[in-house]
Amino acid sequence: MTALTVNDVTKVYGSGHTAVRALCHADLELSDNEFLALLGPSGSGKTTLLSVIGGLLSPTEGSVTIGDTALTELSKKEQTRFRANRVGFVFQGFNLVPFLTARENLTVMASISDAPRSEIEDRTDQLLEELGLADRHDNLPEELSGGERQRVAIGRALVSDPDLILVDEPTASLDTELGTQVVQLLASEIKSRGKAGIMVTHDLRMVEYTDRTVRILDGELLDGPG
Ligand SMILES: Nc1ncnc2c1ncn2[C@@H]1O[C@H](COP(=O)(O)OP(=O)(O)OP(=O)(O)O)[C@@H](O)[C@H]1O
Ligand SMILES: [Mg+2]
Repeated sequence: MTALTVNDVTKVYGSGHTAVRALCHADLELSDNEFLALLGPSGSGKTTLLSVIGGLLSPTEGSVTIGDTALTELSKKEQTRFRANRVGFVFQGFNLVPFLTARENLTVMASISDAPRSEIEDRTDQLLEELGLADRHDNLPEELSGGERQRVAIGRALVSDPDLILVDEPTASLDTELGTQVVQLLASEIKSRGKAGIMVTHDLRMVEYTDRTVRILDGELLDGPG
């Protein structure tokens, strides 16, 4: 099954002489169980692409389909609901809620989805354990290290059991060992639960845990490792 289709997507920020073309006729397909690495220099359009795929930004042209839902045809409200249930997003910089504990950052996000409360609670505890955060669950983000915050953000993306997982540099503030663990956890989530995932990374060592690599340069997608 096709998990994701990006069809001829162009994204232009602004207009007139200040317009920036961040994506240029991007095409991409992802099947269920597939974990894709997205590589490219700073400013090449990686975050823009993830944002358009996750429905956080509307493309200027083109369409995004997740499973059999044409995301670009949904209203804003429908997109929000769809995202809460089907897409897990790990942002660059994590975006944790500062006045909620690590555990609450997971459960609050999942409570926007339609998942039953007891399921959310169980899954939260399981994920915190798997992410090595079992003894940090009552701490606020400011009481956590950068790497711990990053793992909370990853747990938050996984807790509502999304079909598509989008991660923007999940290992940027982790050492090699922890980074490897986190990427292996993402890979095993995707494989064992039949999901699809895209991971932006600068770290070539993390690419071996993914199935395929796509490069992006000046908003253009280039398939293959080259
Ligand atoms: N809100 C915005 N308004 C105008 N231009 C933007 C906006 N967001 C991003 N851009 C521009 O679009 C281009 C792509 O940005 P994007 O954030 O997607 O890059 P990136 O590949 O994620 O980079 P990095 O590796 O530094 O995170 C850049 O030229 C950037 O300056
Ligand atoms: Mg970025």
